[in-house]
Amino acid sequence: MTAPAPAPKAFVVGHPIAHSRSPLIHGHWLSAHGLAGSYERLDVAPEAFADFLSGFPASGFVGGNVTIPHKEAAFRLVATMTPRAERIGAVNTLSLDAAGRLHGDNTDAPGFLAHLDATLGADWPETTGIGAGRTALLLGAGGAARAIAVGLLERGLPHIRIANRTAARAEALRGLDSARVEAVAWDHVPGLLGEAGLLVNTTSLGMAGAEALDLDLAGLPDGAAVADIVYVPLETPLLAAARARSLRTVDGLGMLLHQAVPGFARWFGVTPQVTPDLRALVVADI
Ligand code: ATR
Repeated sequence: MTAPAPAPKAFVVGHPIAHSRSPLIHGHWLSAHGLAGSYERLDVAPEAFADFLSGFPASGFVGGNVTIPHKEAAFRLVATMTPRAERIGAVNTLSLDAAGRLHGDNTDAPGFLAHLDATLGADWPETTGIGAGRTALLLGAGGAARAIAVGLLERGLPHIRIANRTAARAEALRGLDSARVEAVAWDHVPGLLGEAGLLVNTTSLGMAGAEALDLDLAGLPDGAAVADIVYVPLETPLLAAARARSLRTVDGLGMLLHQAVPGFARWFGVTPQVTPDLRALVVADI
């Protein structure tokens, strides 16, 4: 008689990791689907991360999420990765391939798009006016901006503008697709709002404890949508200002929830849903 297969175990690794909501999300899905499995947080310092990854294939874990500050190191250290992770230059989801080698993916881009579709409807490129020539305007040029820009390019958006306090980082993102990505000066943002169908804040401005993004949204066209990746607080000053102007808003929590779906499906064999129950559970923890 063969022994029953052990229950799959997955992790989230970061440093620090105490505030990660990923265990709450995956724990909810494990119990909602009645699955025997576990998901735990692992605090691994940057200097120990390479050793952690080399020990992972023999550790009994089937996979895991990678968060700050390890996403770029994971990108450098996996054996194989998806084309999307390659393009983004960061890995946030790990699994083992058939040969037991480390495989990396980046689910931030599809997570952002899935949340846009769920909130605005999949026809948002039309309803925001992007199909008729409006742009997507991204504020910030860090790792999150890069993932979101890759997602928007994959969705076929013809023109993405990126503005960043440090201009060189926005310029660097033009390398994703210089025909469709334009770097614009941070100071020019107010004057460019009139041409934007989608405004996305990918900076940390507006986060609890940080300064707010100082931007008057009066220039955005009616029908434009405003998205924020900040989710603490859930309604950032930017989203509140958009709502006050009767513009549609997309909060940052949905991206966090949707980016978790592909990893769970891969490790535990069931594709989970982002339900109101799950949202409520995480909101209560914010
Ligand atoms: P992440 O991986 O979450 O995107 P990051 O790479 O540290 O994090 O990027 C943070 C982003 O917020 C950057 O675009 C940063 O601008 P700089 O490149 O100029 O640093 C932006 N940001 C942070 N604080 C800011 C502030 N006070 N004003 C404007 N932009 C700010």
